Amino acid sequence: MELGRCSYPVPRLLLLLLLLLSLNGGAVLSWPTEEGKEVWDYVTVRKDAHMFWWLYYATNPCKNFSELPLVMWLQGGPGGSSTGFGNFEEIGPLDSNLQPRNTTWLQSASLLFVDNPVGTGFSYVNTSDAYTRNLDMVASDMMVLLRTFFDCHKEFQMIPFYVFSESYGGKMAAGIGLELHKALQEGSIKCNFAGVALGDSWISPVDSVLSWGPYLYSMSLLDDQGLAEVAKVAEQVLNAVNKGDYMEATRLWGEAEMVIEQNTDGVNFYNILTKNTTVPAKESSLEFTQSHLVHLCQRHMRHLQQDALSQLMNGPIKKKLKIIPEDYSWGAQATNVFMNMEGDFMKPVTSIVDELLEAGVSVTVYNGQLDLIVDTIGQEAWVRKLKWPELSTFNQLKWKALYIDPRSSETSAFVKSYKNLAFYWILRAGHMVPADQGAMALKMMRLVTQQE
Ligand SMILES: *[C@@H]1O[C@H](CO)[C@@H](O)[C@H](O)[C@H]1NC(C)=O
Ligand SMILES: *[C@@H]1O[C@H](CO)[C@@H](O)[C@H](O)[C@H]1NC(C)=O
Ligand SMILES: *[C@@H]1O[C@H](CO)[C@@H](O)[C@H](O)[C@H]1NC(C)=O
Ligand SMILES: *[C@@H]1O[C@H](CO)[C@@H](O)[C@H](O)[C@H]1NC(C)=O
Repeated sequence: MELGRCSYPVPRLLLLLLLLLSLNGGAVLSWPTEEGKEVWDYVTVRKDAHMFWWLYYATNPCKNFSELPLVMWLQGGPGGSSTGFGNFEEIGPLDSNLQPRNTTWLQSASLLFVDNPVGTGFSYVNTSDAYTRNLDMVASDMMVLLRTFFDCHKEFQMIPFYVFSESYGGKMAAGIGLELHKALQEGSIKCNFAGVALGDSWISPVDSVLSWGPYLYSMSLLDDQGLAEVAKVAEQVLNAVNKGDYMEATRLWGEAEMVIEQNTDGVNFYNILTKNTTVPAKESSLEFTQSHLVHLCQRHMRHLQQDALSQLMNGPIKKKLKIIPEDYSWGAQATNVFMNMEGDFMKPVTSIVDELLEAGVSVTVYNGQLDLIVDTIGQEAWVRKLKWPELSTFNQLKWKALYIDPRSSETSAFVKSYKNLAFYWILRAGHMVPADQGAMALKMMRLVTQQE
């Protein structure tokens, strides 16, 4: 695995075609619909930093993959695995019981899952100083990955390439999108970059924190006392961010979550209607005094690395992939990934979104109605702060209702779009939009990639 080298694993499609050719005497070229072609590999993006990617070619009964877009999916955390969580819990062809997912995005796009930053999922580092510590490092690592990927898979160079993301993945998607735009202008990467989609994204963390109180209050999850307590700690987060003290802001962010847990009887931050009480507020406040960062990390990584998913990835999947180092486990370095990004965590990237818009890159923002951690009103708050000259026109437009089934009157989402900015309000979904509203998420992806 030298830097940027291509390797050529024998594609399973080829084996399948050879088999079919021999059965049919070479007369018919059959297109596999059940099981499509998949390839995966590591790219050494820096010394001691090895990034894992997994590509599925689109499987559409009527269309060749070359007629469909390529979507790269970026998970949050930082430290959440795209090849694990995004793939098996959200949009991949199989769910975590290895049963087909009928709302898989694979029917409308080829899917590229990348475990990033390094140390996430099956990606690993060999020395602890090789972890990324800020968004610039994350984006520059990804440029090495993408350059290698498109060099080795020239069949994707002309296909519209979109980056879809979730949570902290949205912050990375913004930074990566801008770097990719620059690389394309310099001619150092060959691809047909078509846009970024930022799902429940950590673009302006403090705008999320400031809206937690009002959101919970309006949903009957805070009383007046609670609202005042949340407002007080949110104000402290704002002060720390304004001073540029991002370490302190991260610490206070954790404290704000504690105040919310205590006042809401432990609301689920990822979907306010599905409460989970496995970590009582009292217990977590004890942990907090010991190591706030470890606790924060556990809280936010737990849902991305449940035991069942970990068993799947370290069992049958690791066996199937064959190239994962014997001594390395899926997700083993995730805590370190999170901790090394501590100073970057609360930094806003609103100005990067502005640069993307200014550069003419298509930007989609989508958000689940029931998400607390990145609630929709917090997203609307940073969108209002954009300096993009077209924003006032965007704001004057009315939104449009979307239905999954044209015969039903059940509203599934609202959308507003103008020039290269679109905003989707996804109803009845929490933080993990495709997991909660699979059919709507698929429809949105098709709309964003101009298939509907
Ligand atoms: C699908 O598209 C690729 C790339 O354009 C081409 O090489 C391949 O022959 C096509 N396959 C079929 C079955 O049309
Ligand atoms: C997927 O399956 C569910 C449950 O079986 C069904 O309700 C839904 O309509 C299906 N969606 C699609 C897009 O086929
Ligand atoms: C790097 O780490 C991997 C995973 O733990 C291990 O398999 C490999 O031997 C290490 N390489 C070096 C040069 O230490
Ligand atoms: C709550 O957590 C338990 C244990 O992790 C899990 O089995 C259960 O599915 C969770 N419930 C919800 C609603 O997320």
